[in-house]
Amino acid sequence: MARILIEGGHLLEGTVRVSGAKNAVLPILAASLLAAEGVSHIEEVPHLLDVENMANTIHALGADVEWQDSSVTINAENINSVTPPYDLVRRMRASFVVAGPLLTRFGEAVIALPGGCNIGPRPVDLHIKGLEALGATSIVENGFVRLKAPTGGLRGSRIYLDIPSVGATQNIMMAAVLAKGQTIIENAAKEPENVDLANYLNAMGARVRGAGTDIIRIDGVDVMHGATHSVIPDRIEAGTFLVAGAVMGNGVYVENTVSQHIMSLIAKLEEAGATIEDRVDGIKVWPCEGRRMRPLDVKTHYYPSYPTDMQAQMVAALCVAQGTSTVTETVFENRFMHVAELQRMGASIHIEGRTAVIDGIERLSGARVTSTDLRAGAALVIAGLIAEGETEVHGLHHLDRGYDNLVGKFQSLGARIARFEDEEEVAGAAGASAGA
Ligand code: UD1
Repeated sequence: MARILIEGGHLLEGTVRVSGAKNAVLPILAASLLAAEGVSHIEEVPHLLDVENMANTIHALGADVEWQDSSVTINAENINSVTPPYDLVRRMRASFVVAGPLLTRFGEAVIALPGGCNIGPRPVDLHIKGLEALGATSIVENGFVRLKAPTGGLRGSRIYLDIPSVGATQNIMMAAVLAKGQTIIENAAKEPENVDLANYLNAMGARVRGAGTDIIRIDGVDVMHGATHSVIPDRIEAGTFLVAGAVMGNGVYVENTVSQHIMSLIAKLEEAGATIEDRVDGIKVWPCEGRRMRPLDVKTHYYPSYPTDMQAQMVAALCVAQGTSTVTETVFENRFMHVAELQRMGASIHIEGRTAVIDGIERLSGARVTSTDLRAGAALVIAGLIAEGETEVHGLHHLDRGYDNLVGKFQSLGARIARFEDEEEVAGAAGASAGA
């Protein structure tokens, strides 16, 4: 089985460059389906399983998709299906965002309903409710939802989201760009990735205003065309390196990072005792005193509050804080699966409802652990860097979904970390990779 081996206790130093944002590029690839004419060039595309999956999904619908390094060129003039293959959709919940573009451009979309995942049930009711408000009808049969636009196409409407869902905001925004008249989305998700999507849509000919605030106004247009767009940096990848730098660093510069996108994390790192230097193109982090954070109280919430996608990494770092911390998860149910693995490394954590209470100890000890979801995997890597001895992380497909060359990037910072596929020899591996 593929695994990552880490020899803990080595300091991180130097510069690491963050890739394009996974959560921006996924809806952007889906939005490319809206272009009835012309070609789209998307730059700063990270090499990730989820991105490959989305690229394969739009290709299966009839789009030409060509990769060149970190750029993707898409021609969606000849789409010939409104049913993405079940096998691709079931692998990734985010595939559901192809519904909006297909429905609005072709009048129909038939999409497999995403099942549960490791971090809870994650329904799509708000996506469907929003599309229905634009005039669509929906029928659920045999595990698929069949969405149909009325004759004459979708019509603009006023939609209030009960929860500022990131994915529902994207789906409604993409459907509304070709609807007749104006759509207003209230209580919209304000995440930077949705602003990036809106910028791309506008470059394609759409008229979207207010993305990044909780009211988005969209004036429908008749036709969309291809456009060139460069994806924003991944704030969660940046945050992962910043947290690692705060507890194991000796001066880590996280290049290609927008500090405004992670203000809540920066505030918490400073409260924990790290020194943050905001530079033109990135952020330099200096470690907390004794490389142990001061205890924190952290609560995840929608943007611009502390991101749920940075919860697990922070829990890992707080395992060795100088006192007792609390981390409360309000966005997803059941997002503390990493806690049991961290406990195997010696962490003192107990869960009270939606809160993890973490008693900081002096050090973790290396162990064999398994990631249960994407960010849990990143948390275990951070824990392995901190821990005394060797840590072996399994369940790497989760990490491959969302981190572009995580191991190589940590190696470039001086970590003793290496990845092994299937049958490769492990002995002495982490040590051999030092400084590579
Ligand atoms: C996106 C991100 C994910 C991040 C999450 C929250 C992508 C590809 N993924 O996921 O990394 O963790 O935002 O920041 O961008 N909900 C409903 N009904 C719906 C939709 C959502 O009840 O129709 C609930 C969810 O169960 C969850 C909350 O709303 O509790 C937020 O989910 P949402 O913002 O939709 O997250 P995703 O778009 O799935």
